[in-house]
Amino acid sequence: MSVFLGIDIGTSGTKTLAIDPSGKILADAMQTYPCYVPKPLWSEQDPEDWWQATIRSVRKVMQKAGLKPAEVKAIGLSGQMHGSVFLDKHDKVVRRAILWNDQRTAAECAEMEDRVGGRKNLIKLVANPALTGFTAPKILWLRNHEPRKFEKTCKILLPKDEIRRRLTGEYATEVSDASGMLLLDVANRRWSKKLLAALELDIDLFGRCYESEDVTGQLTADAAKLLGLTTDCVVVGGAGDCAAGAVGNGIVNRGVLATSIGTSGVMFVHSDDVKIDPEGRVHTFCHAVRGKWHMMGVNLSAGGSLQWFRNALCQADMAKAKRAKTEVYDLLTAEAAAAPVGSHGLFFLPYLSGERTPHADPDARGCFVGLTLAHTRGHMLRAIMEGVTYSMRDSLAIFDGLDVPVRQIRASGGGSRSPFWRQIQADVFGRKVVTINTEEGPAFGVALLAAVGAGEFNHVREACQATIRVVQETSADRKAKRYYDRAFPVYQQLYASLKDDFKRIAALER
Ligand code: XUL
Repeated sequence: MSVFLGIDIGTSGTKTLAIDPSGKILADAMQTYPCYVPKPLWSEQDPEDWWQATIRSVRKVMQKAGLKPAEVKAIGLSGQMHGSVFLDKHDKVVRRAILWNDQRTAAECAEMEDRVGGRKNLIKLVANPALTGFTAPKILWLRNHEPRKFEKTCKILLPKDEIRRRLTGEYATEVSDASGMLLLDVANRRWSKKLLAALELDIDLFGRCYESEDVTGQLTADAAKLLGLTTDCVVVGGAGDCAAGAVGNGIVNRGVLATSIGTSGVMFVHSDDVKIDPEGRVHTFCHAVRGKWHMMGVNLSAGGSLQWFRNALCQADMAKAKRAKTEVYDLLTAEAAAAPVGSHGLFFLPYLSGERTPHADPDARGCFVGLTLAHTRGHMLRAIMEGVTYSMRDSLAIFDGLDVPVRQIRASGGGSRSPFWRQIQADVFGRKVVTINTEEGPAFGVALLAAVGAGEFNHVREACQATIRVVQETSADRKAKRYYDRAFPVYQQLYASLKDDFKRIAALER
């Protein structure tokens, strides 16, 4: 049998799964690792943790599914986007990787715009404005703040591409993830020499850029031994986790949009041509489908907001869930479901790590607004889910304004597993939300890309058609929709009212 592995280097852990040519999942495994927050709003990880998690999760999958090494024909890699791995000439990291949700680079974003003569020019070169989480500003930050480490740096890779290097010995990336480095000429799908020159960065710092389904190398003998595979196994480009998740959801055709609630929240829509938001509120990136693009809005703390609440305030429930061998989120969701639509006028702004879409504001802060003595923890939990969903509706409103067609919304990611949160999505978006037969997300998407790269399918669309179908629909409740339509402008106004205060709060902490 031919088997394809998908490996997703996520923020909370690495997930590996194996599929057969029909898309059936043979086994999966997850290995977690820590995220370091050395200062407020900084976020770092150790690439060695990703590598160890990769080895362990691949071995687990092989064992669980009882696979023979030679059966695994190809691997697809996915991962958290924008993270920067800085390598010296011996391929040793010069510091921990700086992640997508790190907000330290506001000055470097301004520097980038200055170097190209303004934000509009930057959008012309790389289709997107400078955002603190993106890779290029992090590179400038290293040069400005840790110059010795910058001088030692010979290669800069994205998280999944560091794992590719350890698997194949190749320095390479692919168009979807490279788009989020803010160094790619997204319209032409190649590095922007103009921007690199303006930033005084050498093109040799970066790997070769492939299309997502292309083969980028084969396993080295060392890697094959560590993983229990063979050197015949090829590694395809893969995709950043958003594009990979979209492939895994079948978002490979015009008019189909995916919502994903993981740590971050993503609204992802396929586009047959390059459409760019002149205001830079949503991203335009290359898709993992050859010659296609996508637009995307990202909320930095989606499931992450609920996770924060759980960690900060629900220790007893976590212990209770552990004893009862159930999921603590199920307990918390049941509590939220007891609160009414709109949480009795309680709003939650989910800007716990600053925000990206639509505000691009590293100083934005999370808050509950509208608390009264009547509010319980259940209201707060529901308000978190509603607030995160409003933040996703912000992206939907932008796509509508840009005439990007949205005919179908597919819900995915951990948060969407809950029927309750899916109903909130349908009600807040005011549209039907569907789910598909797989919930596997990015790892599944890149396993499909691996199957395409290995010749099992001719095209990503063919792979999706053969393996993915809609299984469930959630329609908007008319009364709830009416409430949320009235509440959404109130939610939107709260950021406008508070943004200067957020700046003042951030200044206190600097
Ligand atoms: C996408 C983004 C996040 C990370 C998280 O632009 O920053 O979705 O990829 O995994």
